[in-house]
Amino acid sequence: MDVDDIETIAVLGAGNMGHGIAEVAALAGFDVHLRDINEEFVQNGYDQIEWSLDKLAEKDQLSDDEADAALDRVTPIVDLEEAVADVDFVIEAVPEKMDIKQDVYRELELHAPDHAVFATNTSSLSITDLSEVTERPEQFCGMHFFNPPVRMQLVEVISGEHTDDEVLDLTEDLAEEMGKTPVRVRKDSPGFIVNRVLVPLLNEAAWLVHDDVATIDEVDATTKYDIGLPMGAFELADQVGIDVAYDVLDYMQGVLGDAYEPCPVLVEKVEAEQLGKKTGEGFYDYE
Ligand code: CAA
Repeated sequence: MDVDDIETIAVLGAGNMGHGIAEVAALAGFDVHLRDINEEFVQNGYDQIEWSLDKLAEKDQLSDDEADAALDRVTPIVDLEEAVADVDFVIEAVPEKMDIKQDVYRELELHAPDHAVFATNTSSLSITDLSEVTERPEQFCGMHFFNPPVRMQLVEVISGEHTDDEVLDLTEDLAEEMGKTPVRVRKDSPGFIVNRVLVPLLNEAAWLVHDDVATIDEVDATTKYDIGLPMGAFELADQVGIDVAYDVLDYMQGVLGDAYEPCPVLVEKVEAEQLGKKTGEGFYDYE
């Protein structure tokens, strides 16, 4: 399959990443089926796309017509079979748990056309382990966007153990068609490139606060001023979702060892369900 053969893309999961990926795909001219497990989740994702497109139009980064046309290309769907029955490419962005993702792939395999490529937006989990619950591990790869997808340029394209080179080429072409810059990750390793570097940084920031070395504001001021991050470490944790950072660390700890143990400061936030921007409260308040 060539990128010109891709007409319809299913995005599974309408959360923080899923709705943003659907928006990017619709802006690139693809028909998009945005799927989540209930009406509320899928409608919420659709509303967020509408909000984002309005914002881009307000700032003259899009015309009103382009924003309307992109929104028209997104169909919110709850039924998985209906969402994937006639698609060419599936991008999965469901919660960052191996068992949840594997269950989705088992069901997806029953309904998706044989030619469809499966790409996971996982932040850290093994592409190979996910691919092996399907009957098409050679047609399976990682396609990892960054938050917020509509603003972030990079996409990691990750090979699993069984992925065909043509599938990686196609996925890179698709990322380019979406106006992104793909980088190929040659080996399936926890956190790939970006999160292997970034998430320990967020964890170390949390340990500094845990150990009373610095306050959240001091760490953020320093990481912005001195390390040159566009956001402070805690602002960034709120942006990506503290639960996502925790899940990535938890997985990396299991595979790579205790150097990646999630700091209790992150654990407390996850337990309190103060997950960052998406819940209105994290290390900062967004109400
Ligand atoms: N759509 C449209 N507009 C959006 C938006 C979206 N999805 N998200 C934010 N905005 C708007 C804001 O509402 C704000 O609008 P107002 O000016 O009207 O208040 C505006 O964008 C902010 O944009 P600015 O241009 O003023 O701000 P900026 O130049 O600082 O850019 C940013 C914002 C691009 C998010 C920048 O801060 C940045 O690059 N931050 C780092 C983000 C990052 O590193 N993400 C990757 C995290 S790692 C990850 O995601 C992987 C993982 O698996 C965990």
